[in-house]
Amino acid sequence: MKLLVTGGAGFIGSNFILYMLRQYPDVEITNVDSLTYAGNLENLKSIETDPRYTFSKTDITNAQEIGTLFRQGIDVVVNFAAESHVDRSIMEPDVFVRTNVLGTQVLLDAAKAHNVKKYVQVSTDEVYGSLGNTGLFTELTPLAPNSPYSASKAGGDLLVRAYHETFGLPVNITRCSNNYGPYQFPEKLIPLMISRALNDQPLPVYGDGMNIRDWLYVEDHCSAIDLVIRQGQNGEVYNIGGNNERTNIQIVKAILKELGKPESLITYVQDRPGHDRRYGIDPAKLTQELGWKPKHHFETGIKETIRWYLDHQEWWTRIQSGAYQDYYAKQYGERL
Ligand code: NAD
Ligand code: DAU
Repeated sequence: MKLLVTGGAGFIGSNFILYMLRQYPDVEITNVDSLTYAGNLENLKSIETDPRYTFSKTDITNAQEIGTLFRQGIDVVVNFAAESHVDRSIMEPDVFVRTNVLGTQVLLDAAKAHNVKKYVQVSTDEVYGSLGNTGLFTELTPLAPNSPYSASKAGGDLLVRAYHETFGLPVNITRCSNNYGPYQFPEKLIPLMISRALNDQPLPVYGDGMNIRDWLYVEDHCSAIDLVIRQGQNGEVYNIGGNNERTNIQIVKAILKELGKPESLITYVQDRPGHDRRYGIDPAKLTQELGWKPKHHFETGIKETIRWYLDHQEWWTRIQSGAYQDYYAKQYGERL
């Protein structure tokens, strides 16, 4: 199988490439990534000389270069490439629309022109908006995105749907809940809190800290996408989640406890505008129709993740010394 993975230098994409190369001796993977602030080839150091793996520094909005890559013969496309951070989308929505909507359309056109066997769009539960105290997102929940990020992801999803309905492109859309695990950029809740706690810096908790997210270990997301590639019914959407809802404050306190740091580091800061209150995934379609089961329990997964960040301090300190600092000053500067 010849696989074209976009955004493979990011958090989930790099975990997915490592996972697929471990699982399948005969897979060939081309990783297409423009290396934005979130793309880090260090994540893939262990496989950079693997003959089954090729990297191309290409922007998915560049139709000409994307066309050239598809001409080598591609069986399956998995599109991870995206601007992925909600807070950044509030500051700078245009790049989100460019990559998440226009980039998706460029990939769809190439997939159509080159008759790929499967196109998988890696999407998010955030396209469904926010839940109240009860209920879960199913694949039939109406799309109601609340941030420029989720709106741009929903735009991409709708194009994917349209290319299936109009052109018969063999597509799937996956919508996963919050991932955690190795190689997550330290702007996202869990790695941000771990790195700040280790430096004895204040931990910025938005609003009252009672917003709920549904956490899934990244490898379980990867196994679900693998299953969808092989067994997903064309045109279908699959929700991915492990029934692991936690309030943000529960997560932050668990991290502090594991690191032996005091709760006095917690600092409540101004809430994120348009902040979704609760996400919760119903994964019944994926578990019942395709037989998917997550392997990692949250209690062990979070401990392993904290261990990973402890053992890889040079990985995230190198990141934090770069452009990330400018963003960080803008996002939190006046508040802490
Ligand atoms: P990430 O920000 O860590 O990685 C994104 C990658 O895409 C980076 O390597 C970046 O360089 C690349 N990229 C960005 N714009 C590009 C462009 N124009 N052309 C080529 N490459 C480009 O993101 P992530 O957390 O790994 O998320 C991956 C995908 O999964 C995204 O589509 C996101 O919406 C989706 N998702 C993420 C989560 C989560 O919890 N992180 C949950 C559900 C779905
Ligand atoms: O649900 C899937 C989504 O999960 C993905 O589509 C996104 O790409 C990914 O970034 C993530 O979005 P969230 O907005 O849920 O993740 P984030 O880590 O930014 O925030 C998680 C929660 O923690 C959210 O309620 C906001 C809160 N938070 C976040 C940060 C960065 C804080 O309280 N303080 C912070 O400093």
